[in-house]
Amino acid sequence: MANNKALGTGGRKSDKDLKIRVKTAKGRKVASTKWLERQLNDPYVARARAEGYRSRAAFKIKEMNEKHKFFKRGNRVVDLGAAPGGWSQVAAAAVGSTDANPLVVGIDYLDMDPIPGVILFKKDFTEDDAPAMLIEALGGHKADVVMSDMAWPTTGHRATDHLRIVHLIEIAADFAIQVLNPGGSFVAKVFQGGTEHELLHMLKRHFTSTFHVKPPSSRKDSAEAYLVAKGFKAAPSVRDADEADRD
Ligand SMILES: C[S@@+](CC[C@H](N)C(=O)[O-])C[C@H]1O[C@@H](n2cnc3c(N)ncnc32)[C@H](O)[C@@H]1O
Repeated sequence: MANNKALGTGGRKSDKDLKIRVKTAKGRKVASTKWLERQLNDPYVARARAEGYRSRAAFKIKEMNEKHKFFKRGNRVVDLGAAPGGWSQVAAAAVGSTDANPLVVGIDYLDMDPIPGVILFKKDFTEDDAPAMLIEALGGHKADVVMSDMAWPTTGHRATDHLRIVHLIEIAADFAIQVLNPGGSFVAKVFQGGTEHELLHMLKRHFTSTFHVKPPSSRKDSAEAYLVAKGFKAAPSVRDADEADRD
């Protein structure tokens, strides 16, 4: 049960005094209690609720866009790992997407409530037919921004978790390279240690600039980080170089 400390009348209370503490309850694991306490004391959770965002993650893409300005009015956007929908909400507002003219397409294997101006698919992006479904939903147009906040639940086995995350980033990057318009942007969750050397090397060839970003709303104690790649180059010579790399 939430145990909100009573405020006295004298003087200003410190943040420590104002912190909501959650008592451990029978049947609730210590980790769940800590998670609940963190949620209740997280200013971004409160802001997300107040501003009508589905998740506190909405602030991460907002902050990255404020810095790197990848969303423009009329852009087409693909959101990989979209649930519960914070990034799609931010993107739809930034590009001016509406139900009459939807410009944002999202995918997640979890259920999602509809979002105005966003076409949503409930599907695993690693399935073979997922990229084609997203491309079709773009109505034959290329995308201007591909963003991926995808992450698997961790197994606790470091090497396995690392490989699974790297795989998700790679397929998201391959997809971005197929569908982006020249000048487009790719934003992806990459985790600490940055992007794998080979992948970063490949992205540097395809984009004019790449950045590793830790948005202020990303929890300090989390290994999460993001890659922002801007200025997609569609030059065939870049594709040739990739093919040569694979030989
Ligand atoms: C951190 S959450 C995304 C939060 C979202 N950006 C927002 O603002 O609400 C990561 C999401 O990636 C999804 N995901 C992970 N792997 C996926 C996959 N292979 N295909 C589709 N979705 C995936 C998870 O189901 C989860 O909902």
